Amino acid sequence: MTTSKMNAGTIQEAADYIRSKTDLTPEIGLILGSGLGILANLIEDAVSIPYEDIPHFPVSTVEGHEGELLIGTIKGRPVVMMKGRFHMYEGYGPEVTAFPVRVMKNLGVSGLLVTNAAGGVNTSFKPGDLMLLSDHLNLTGTSPLIGPNDSALGVRFPDMSEAYSRRLRAAAKEAASEHDFNFQEGVYAGLLGPTYETPAEIRMLRTLGADAVGMSTVSETIVARHAGIEVLGISCITNMAAGILDQPLSHDEVMETADMVKEKFLGLVLSIIPKM
Ligand code: 6GU
Repeated sequence: MTTSKMNAGTIQEAADYIRSKTDLTPEIGLILGSGLGILANLIEDAVSIPYEDIPHFPVSTVEGHEGELLIGTIKGRPVVMMKGRFHMYEGYGPEVTAFPVRVMKNLGVSGLLVTNAAGGVNTSFKPGDLMLLSDHLNLTGTSPLIGPNDSALGVRFPDMSEAYSRRLRAAAKEAASEHDFNFQEGVYAGLLGPTYETPAEIRMLRTLGADAVGMSTVSETIVARHAGIEVLGISCITNMAAGILDQPLSHDEVMETADMVKEKFLGLVLSIIPKM
């Protein structure tokens, strides 16, 4: 789906439909990257709503069974989780990634946790590291906010000076210390993909101040900030970016590392949610 019928009316209709399926008012939104979909199993009393049933909701074309919204509680906090997310390399416009975030806002969400798999650009990183996003570089060449602005949804020119909340980063670090764990922290460069970058592109990104690189997250964060939602972003460094090690990159490696780190990552997420 590339057409966008995203406006206050369609957002309201989608949110009204979701409210008709649950009495819960979610406070925290979760958009989780590769490998963390199993967090869905930890949501208590989850109500599952297929994307295709929600009016105006985009429908995912990939990843088989993915494509549902789950609403329930984690450690007593009401959450809404997207099981299956939309990437621009699949052909979705940036506003498609935006719609679910706007629906979350309408439902009552005030904090969003976004996770992703990313390549390490900072040479001191190792595969398996988890990085708190301190900031991002939007290198997708586009924005989900292009087009007329509805001031009921946010301002025309949103401030991005604290794209990723200091407060939530501090909460995440506190949760990590309880696990005797330390996050890396750095800047995430969001590109369109679907190719991984060339070694020259990685050198460029490092010069520009990037610590990690991936193909998601920036458009969701932009919409969340436009809507006044606080964002916490965490990258799983699944591999080193091109040109750092003398070996080619593969999606298999990305999935393998994501799988190895999954338990630790999940434990952290569970400790972070009550602090959000
Ligand atoms: Cl090296 N690049 C991008 N764009 N996405 C990734 C990655 C690299 N590693 C995992 N995801």
